[in-house]
Amino acid sequence: MKKRLNVAVVGAGYWGPHLGRNLRASREWNLAAICDLDIDRARRVADAVGGASVTADLQSVLSDPLIDAIAIATPAKTHHEIAMAALEAGKHVMVEKPLADTPEHGLEMVVRAAERGLVLMADHTSCYTPAVLKMRELIAAGEIGDVLFVDSLRVNFGLIQPDIDVFWDLAPHDLSILDFILPGGLRATSVAAHGSDPLSSGTSSIGHLSMPLADGVMAHLHVNWLNPTRTRRIVIGGTRHTLVWDDLNPQQRLSVYDRGVDLSSISHATAKDRRAANVPYRSGEARASAAEEREALAAVVAEFAAAIHGHRDARTSGAAGLRVLSVLDAAAHSLAAFGAPQPLPDQLRAGGVAA
Ligand SMILES: NC(=O)c1ccc[n+]([C@@H]2O[C@H](COP(=O)([O-])OP(=O)(O)OC[C@H]3O[C@@H](n4cnc5c(N)ncnc54)[C@H](O)[C@@H]3O)[C@@H](O)[C@H]2O)c1
Repeated sequence: MKKRLNVAVVGAGYWGPHLGRNLRASREWNLAAICDLDIDRARRVADAVGGASVTADLQSVLSDPLIDAIAIATPAKTHHEIAMAALEAGKHVMVEKPLADTPEHGLEMVVRAAERGLVLMADHTSCYTPAVLKMRELIAAGEIGDVLFVDSLRVNFGLIQPDIDVFWDLAPHDLSILDFILPGGLRATSVAAHGSDPLSSGTSSIGHLSMPLADGVMAHLHVNWLNPTRTRRIVIGGTRHTLVWDDLNPQQRLSVYDRGVDLSSISHATAKDRRAANVPYRSGEARASAAEEREALAAVVAEFAAAIHGHRDARTSGAAGLRVLSVLDAAAHSLAAFGAPQPLPDQLRAGGVAA
């Protein structure tokens, strides 16, 4: 039995209470403190989870030698400052998505954690849902064969946010899932972003991202705040099977389709021959892939503890957070350049930044 680690949650707004509840319920953690500039919020969360010390002073948390780790659930522009101070103080850090406000800040965090031998984990919550974990497992086992395309749709009625556009609000979820499930992570070579602002609010409320991946596969993401219906769907087409993740369908969140293009009969044909021939389609069965339902955040906090105990990177490491951040940043540059594709740094193409 490993010793329980002491953790403080920093930020007790919307998401902090969810972290607090899961850390409190975990056998790996002792929820020692809640820190928020607004002490009343911190107190409300502490009361709701059955007690923890509260403070508005981050330094008092960081200078407490009994605290092993902190979980940061403050606005993105504050992540870098808080995380760097925590790493300096020798604490392991879990940061809410997005990892930071700029790739430069994210990279500094990744490098400093590595230098200090501390865990820096990105809370990419969606990656720990049973259906997404299952998708990762199926892809790694070769179930879908080679990936042919990736199509992602995340649309709903959403609040127009004052500080971020629809890309920064919705796309991190899908980018983090793709980084988690695709072999070698999210290895985009460039990003082209097209946004539209039909409400003239000064920020895109509808967005499209096109990303050629390192192996020539095209990934497309559509995000939309103005859609009256709510959809969270990712389709990954493969040479053997196609996976369809439909997160809002609890009866069948993950389906595996045997229907697709039958490449076996044309594998040696030239492109010209392929165009001339009728491409044969396979019309096989579709089946639901069952995965036990459980709260993703419970798995997130368990992974944070396991990475610390195992002296290893978290499955959604700081480097994973940085890859997502770099795509978002390149998308912002592409938007400013009227959709011109923006290249991503070489180390991201290769799929590895530090850890
Ligand atoms: N993983 C997920 O699915 C998920 C879902 C929602 C939000 N988030 C992320 O969680 C983070 C927080 O989002 P939110 O919606 O809870 O924000 P919020 O504005 O509701 O809450 C932020 C809290 O942080 C506090 N705060 C700000 N600066 C601070 C500082 N320096 N020290 C201590 N406290 C400070 C504020 O007082 C506030 O209570 C964001 O990064 C967001 O993207 C993640």
